[in-house]
Amino acid sequence: MQQPPAPVLARAAQALAAEPEHDRTVFLARLQRHWPELLHGLTVAYGGQAEQLAERVVGLALDGFLVRPADLRLLDLRRHVEADWFQSPRMLGYACYAERFGGDLQGVAKRVPYLEELGVTYLHLMPLLRPRPAPNDGGYAVADYRQVRADLGTMEDLSALAAVLRDAGISLTLDLVLNHVAAEHEWARRARAGEQRFRDYFHVFPDRSEPDAYEGTLPEVFPDFAPGSFTWDAELDGWVWTTFNAWQWDLNWHNPEVFCQFAELVCFLANQGVECLRLDAIAFLWKRLGTDCQNQPEVHGLTQALRALGRIAAPALVFKAEAIVGPDQLVHYLGTGPHSGKVSDLAYHNSLMVQLWSGLAAQDARLATTALRRFPAKPATTAWGTYLRCHDDIGWAIDDADAAAVGWTGEGHRRFLSDFYSGAFPGSWARGLVFQENEATGDRRISGTAASLAGLEAGDEHAVDRLLLGHLAVLGYGGVPLIWMGDELALLNDGSWARLDEQAADNRWVHRPRMPWDVAERRTVDGTVEHRVWAALRHAAQVRAGLPSLHASVEAELLEPVNPSVLAWVRRAPSQTLVALHNMSPEPQLWPREAVPLPDPLWDALSGTTAGLVLPPYGVLWLVG
Ligand code: GLC
Repeated sequence: MQQPPAPVLARAAQALAAEPEHDRTVFLARLQRHWPELLHGLTVAYGGQAEQLAERVVGLALDGFLVRPADLRLLDLRRHVEADWFQSPRMLGYACYAERFGGDLQGVAKRVPYLEELGVTYLHLMPLLRPRPAPNDGGYAVADYRQVRADLGTMEDLSALAAVLRDAGISLTLDLVLNHVAAEHEWARRARAGEQRFRDYFHVFPDRSEPDAYEGTLPEVFPDFAPGSFTWDAELDGWVWTTFNAWQWDLNWHNPEVFCQFAELVCFLANQGVECLRLDAIAFLWKRLGTDCQNQPEVHGLTQALRALGRIAAPALVFKAEAIVGPDQLVHYLGTGPHSGKVSDLAYHNSLMVQLWSGLAAQDARLATTALRRFPAKPATTAWGTYLRCHDDIGWAIDDADAAAVGWTGEGHRRFLSDFYSGAFPGSWARGLVFQENEATGDRRISGTAASLAGLEAGDEHAVDRLLLGHLAVLGYGGVPLIWMGDELALLNDGSWARLDEQAADNRWVHRPRMPWDVAERRTVDGTVEHRVWAALRHAAQVRAGLPSLHASVEAELLEPVNPSVLAWVRRAPSQTLVALHNMSPEPQLWPREAVPLPDPLWDALSGTTAGLVLPPYGVLWLVG
């Protein structure tokens, strides 16, 4: 293994001279272990500058480690022993806006017992670092990464909350918004003020020639409220790259100074007790003319270098990639080839979400089976983040070839799904809203809570069963299941979403309600919808925690849909096999005995009884043996 140059090791040893001996020893061991990854990652992105840069990054890692609190250094050591902690079947994730869940950070801390009651072990709080004044894309336009939004509290409150969560066995996840900053961020302000150093933090063009050339191959992210990918700024006297909204300025990661800024921020946030960083919009980091400027190989080099830094300075920290990209691209975010296991630890499984909704609308499991089979195995040290809903819209990422394989057209099925989930399709039970209609491509994405999309708002008799099927599929696929706030209580669309001016243009707010704590009380009242969904979810999480076949190192293998209405997969761990069956239709369905690769008797872990193979409408079985 390639060793760090002797002067780098010597400088590190000297900087650590006053630290306890065990801290010194483990830091140096980590530096030796992860130096090659750091150097390689930086070489992919920065070529010949990499070695010098790597030395500088080691300096930043040291700075970060020297101020790392003792309790977090202890957590680092624990994680050395339990490196697969986030792959455990005990994991259950929950995601919410701090203010919508608890009012502020201290309020969130008071609600920890609610999370514990559900079995939550991971909490993603939506962006809470100081954003630009509204509109700010729900906080995804950060003006200061070192301050908490004033109405939520302070950095001290954040560290205190992280400690409360840690004591409750809940790992705190925060966003690292690294593709862009708010136009009000100091870097952008200083760029506008004419400081070349900061102008170089952004992609600025004097006229339209380069932007036009790039836009020839760039897709539109927000075609409706923010068309185009560049914004004219009079003070800059140039066009600045803005993939998302005009006030979200893309950072120029081709500039190593930007890398170093984020290296410092990774350490800073880890030292507040953040255990997982969600790498927001990671696919967009590197720009290349003639491409869609997503998924460029350098993105994986940059991630690997940041990950190596984390492993040296704060190994309790893991990364989660938010890359809403096709199956062929997605697995690279968990690492393939030389990056295998060295980039993000977690990645959202967007396809699983899309395919579950698609299968429920079509009452057909064949497309989902085809699409999910196309995913290559991920590195055994990584995990999917599985989810039924999140704070974003659902885009119908249906592949044309997959659709053709089951005799449909991609275009036709995408149109069907938009019609179905917006409630326009005859007989649809869904009540979603169309988000970002793109006239050029015909795309219509969908907003709506899981319960409203599953039929509860429309009063459909199978709505709760459908919602539970979705939750169980997400819990039974393997990885960290992520529950979006309110879906544990079957909350409906928030009819008041458009009342705030800054939200009125963005209907994703329809599925980002405020937690109605009075409604949450009903979770203990027999006979209520809230109780049914809450209790089933909690029970499934408890069952799951005891099933080794749901460890994330195991792959889900899709079974042939011998009954096309049943979505089926098998997970083969050395000590246990699990066969998960999901009836996607409102009719009872039979699954043939010979298609269950388990010996008799068939035991259903969910009901805790021996099971027959007739699945009730939307029924789910977790057969284990
Ligand atoms: C991610 C977020 C989304 C946001 C975008 C820009 O996709 O999930 O909510 O609009 O990044 O930051």
